[in-house]
Amino acid sequence: ASAPRRPGDLAGVRVVVSAGGTREPLDPVRFLGNRSSGRQGVALARAARDRGARVTLVAGPIEVPAPDGVEVVSVETALQMRDALSGAAPAADVVVMAAAVADFRPAQVAGHKIKKNADTDDAPVVTLVRNPDILAGLVARRRAGQVVVGFAAETGDDTGTALEHATAKLARKGCDLLVLNDVSAGKVFGRADTEVTVLAADGTVTPVPAGTKEAVAEAIWDSVRKLLPTPGQ
Ligand code: CTP
Ligand code: CA
Repeated sequence: ASAPRRPGDLAGVRVVVSAGGTREPLDPVRFLGNRSSGRQGVALARAARDRGARVTLVAGPIEVPAPDGVEVVSVETALQMRDALSGAAPAADVVVMAAAVADFRPAQVAGHKIKKNADTDDAPVVTLVRNPDILAGLVARRRAGQVVVGFAAETGDDTGTALEHATAKLARKGCDLLVLNDVSAGKVFGRADTEVTVLAADGTVTPVPAGTKEAVAEAIWDSVRKLLPTPGQ
């Protein structure tokens, strides 16, 4: 891990970071999930801690250990993540939604393991329902001065570039910063290296050079720092 770029410049700042994917149960043994490793969220939590912040990490299942010295709230589902964040966010100066929240969950969770029917080739049809948009809820309930940061992994398509999609998402979500991960070129989940662009609500676009998730985390905190009251030098 890299040394903190600006030791102490987040001293006393209360930070909540979400990390990892969510798991949406189908039955007691199965779930719908995604490939988020939690690495970027964990790197953000560690970097904030090293810069002096008081950090709460709301973590879905993550493939890397949570850093020492941060408060960890472990969750599995999107609904649990929403509840954990509703509890933690009101006291925070900064909330960063680095988690990959499942957009949908099975409408029904079987109380028992779903079995094959030995007499037929039938397969069950899984009906999905929308999960709440946690980030939108955080924005709607945020305190004056609280900084809310979202993430978006986007690809360009025939309706626009990744940057255009991210700009529209930032406006739609109403957060202060949106960290765009352009995944068009196939640089996706679970990798150690990453390259992002930080979009601010005032229209500022800050490209962050490709680097480790630790280096990218430092750059994201630099952008957050500028939005906090009395930013230091
Ligand atoms: N997010 C959230 N709750 C959800 C879905 C997403 O809080 N139910 C957050 C993510 O943590 C991320 C941001 O919203 O910070 C953007 O997530 P993304 O999946 O890119 O946006 P969506 O609104 O779900 O749009 P899309 O249809 O592109 O997936
Ligand atoms: Ca989504």
